[in-house]
Amino acid sequence: MVMNMSSCSLKGYCYLFILMTNCMLLVPLGVRSQQLSSDFYATTCPNLLKVVRKEVVSAIKNEIRMAASLLRLHFHDCFVNGCDGSILLDGNNTEKTAFPNVNSARGYEVIDNIKTAVENACTGVVSCSDILAIAARDSVVLSGGPSWKVQLGRRDGLVANQTGANRALPSPFESLTSIIAKFDAVTLNITDVVALSGGHTIGLARCATFSNRLFNFSGTGAPDNTMDTAMVTDLQQTCPQTSDGNNTASLDRTTRDLFDNNYFKNLVNGKGLLQSDQILYSSNEAISTTKDLVELYSNNSGVFLSDFVNSMIKMGNISPLTGSSGEIRKNCRVIN
Ligand code: HEM
Ligand SMILES: *[C@@H]1O[C@H](CO)[C@@H](O)[C@H](O)[C@H]1NC(C)=O
Ligand SMILES: *[C@@H]1O[C@H](CO)[C@@H](O)[C@H](O)[C@H]1NC(C)=O
Ligand SMILES: *[C@@H]1O[C@H](CO)[C@@H](O)[C@H](O)[C@H]1NC(C)=O
Ligand SMILES: *[C@@H]1O[C@H](CO)[C@@H](O)[C@H](O)[C@H]1NC(C)=O
Ligand SMILES: *[C@@H]1O[C@H](CO)[C@@H](O)[C@H](O)[C@H]1NC(C)=O
Ligand SMILES: *[C@@H]1O[C@H](CO)[C@@H](O)[C@H](O)[C@H]1NC(C)=O
Repeated sequence: MVMNMSSCSLKGYCYLFILMTNCMLLVPLGVRSQQLSSDFYATTCPNLLKVVRKEVVSAIKNEIRMAASLLRLHFHDCFVNGCDGSILLDGNNTEKTAFPNVNSARGYEVIDNIKTAVENACTGVVSCSDILAIAARDSVVLSGGPSWKVQLGRRDGLVANQTGANRALPSPFESLTSIIAKFDAVTLNITDVVALSGGHTIGLARCATFSNRLFNFSGTGAPDNTMDTAMVTDLQQTCPQTSDGNNTASLDRTTRDLFDNNYFKNLVNGKGLLQSDQILYSSNEAISTTKDLVELYSNNSGVFLSDFVNSMIKMGNISPLTGSSGEIRKNCRVIN
């Protein structure tokens, strides 16, 4: 009897314990079913990361700028209808032809090559939106930047949203307040604005996106006085007023292809390329937090790299399609 009681009470305890752990695990898991995880493809595509890495390595060997272009594709995907691969869809009225992307976003052929390699390794299980997230991480790593565990499990959207792309993506000509509002609209805060702007430590921009600063800035009859004067002179040669705006300059003049904190050192020295870069430090909109963060990141690359990683994971979490929403596209350019 005594033994039975004790065994009963132990069983009761165990049962309660299991019940409690179930509650504690299952309730959050219920909520978490909409969330991503780093081991999402562990059984369905165990070599996924290796397959993607190999393709990204080969694309960057072929053209070093591709690292920057792939990083930007993931950003432009996530800000429009969430990270759902919508930027990759072809057609007449798509995100590709929205103002922020047309003649500007690039790397679509590389994504096609990665998708083909991934489909050969594991057919029909890996989304194009996850491929964009992995390729962005790999591009940062291969440029000498930090690594992180990419969260996975996104599914692909069924529509491209051109109006959404025109509205949601930040322009290099808008105010800091407005840029902050666009990040806020996708649950990213001021730290994310500054850290993620550090993505401009690699890559190029066309004259069309900054030449307004070089000759007659905002009708003042003079260049933007927040730009270093030697840099103005140099860029006036790169972007003569007679050119079509398609020449390019490095976003980070110090180390163009290296993922480091020189972008922020440049801002402190008046050497940001885009107006939207330099206002993080020089704006008289008095958003002191952005100025402090620029100084902090310029002094301490470790803090920048770690904040950048946190913000990339946050950005990758913008409204993912999970469960049975969306689909796993067979071809990243068209819905199934
Ligand atoms: C804060 C607001 C931002 C604005 C206004 C902005 C604007 C721009 C513009 C105008 C260009 C040049 C496009 C062209 O030449 O046509 C560019 C390039 C680029 N952006 Fe941003 N951007 C922003 C944030 C970001 C973020 C969050 C990332 C990624 C984390 C990013 C990554 C890049 C990269 C890597 C390039 C170079 C792409 C290449 O060389 O192909 N940008 N951006
Ligand atoms: C795009 O428009 C052209 C002409 O208007 C049409 O022939 C073509 O089928 C359209 N393509 C798609 C993908 O809708
Ligand atoms: C397109 O994006 C806008 C936000 O900019 C959103 O309000 C709208 O619902 C989206 N449309 C579709 C079809 O997803
Ligand atoms: C932004 O959010 C992160 C957490 O994701 C937090 O650590 C940081 O302090 C926030 N920044 C601001 C300016 O609120
Ligand atoms: C600068 O632009 C303003 C208005 O956009 C114009 O009135 C002015 O004449 C221009 N100045 C020069 C030097 O071109
Ligand atoms: C730049 O080149 C594209 C084609 O690559 C062309 O359509 C465009 O008109 C050119 N000029 C500008 C300012 O984008
Ligand atoms: C960064 O360093 C500069 C001088 O080297 C200093 O004036 C500034 O206060 C520092 N800022 C931060 C946020 O650490």
